[in-house]
Amino acid sequence: MNANPNPNGELSQIAINAPAEFEVPELLADHPQQFRESMMRYTCAIREVKTKLEVLNDDLSVRNSRNPIEMMKTRVKKPESIIEKLQRRGLPVTIESMERNLDDVAGVRVVCSFIDDIYDISRMLAHQDDIKVVAVKDYIRSPKENGYRSYHMIVEIPVFFADRKRDMRVEVQIRTIAMDFWASLEHQLKYKKQMSPEDAQEMENDLRECAETIAQTDWRMVDIRRKIEDKGIL
Ligand code: GTP
Ligand code: MG
Repeated sequence: MNANPNPNGELSQIAINAPAEFEVPELLADHPQQFRESMMRYTCAIREVKTKLEVLNDDLSVRNSRNPIEMMKTRVKKPESIIEKLQRRGLPVTIESMERNLDDVAGVRVVCSFIDDIYDISRMLAHQDDIKVVAVKDYIRSPKENGYRSYHMIVEIPVFFADRKRDMRVEVQIRTIAMDFWASLEHQLKYKKQMSPEDAQEMENDLRECAETIAQTDWRMVDIRRKIEDKGIL
């Protein structure tokens, strides 16, 4: 099986990505090594959560012959966004303050095929005994005023580092392809607001209507899938 067997049984054949270089922002430059270590820990926490979601996707796809997860995106919050958020909330701009107060330094976005997959995936993740759900915001059942829909969870996951175990917080956003499409375009458009208040209001109304149309379409797609499942085709 192995093209290049290692007779000494060393670990050299396991490819390990080089740790990422983390830029240290000036405002947090007092302890550059501490900042890099913290960012490294968030990156590891993301990897753990991503693996759990990949496992769920693999298991469900073998059982149901379809992938509930269309794609996943991960990110560590940019240093300038960390500083901006701490300042906006009137919190100290320190590494301790970031770790204590910010729940979204590590982020995983899960894009599901169907709206009911969101609830299956989130329930299965929440029930895992090493996962603690710190907070849930269900913007699907209670959409935001502008029409934004997504299921947000803040989870805490234990990660085993060289010297100790740490419980790390990760923000998981779960949404459908359609919700992701809406959120991406809304995000682009809200920064183009050089318009009259009337036009801005019209744009907001249009976006809310689009979000509602998308939500109806998401449920219609589930209906179509269920009909196919009932006929035993899927
Ligand atoms: P933030 O300070 O933005 O993190 O808000 P929050 O801590 O109250 O969290 P919330 O769960 O409301 O939103 C967190 C994230 O969800 C944001 O950083 C965005 O990625 C996404 N989000 C929330 N509301 C919107 C929205 O109206 N439009 C878009 N495009 N994304 C949103
Ligand atoms: Mg955020």
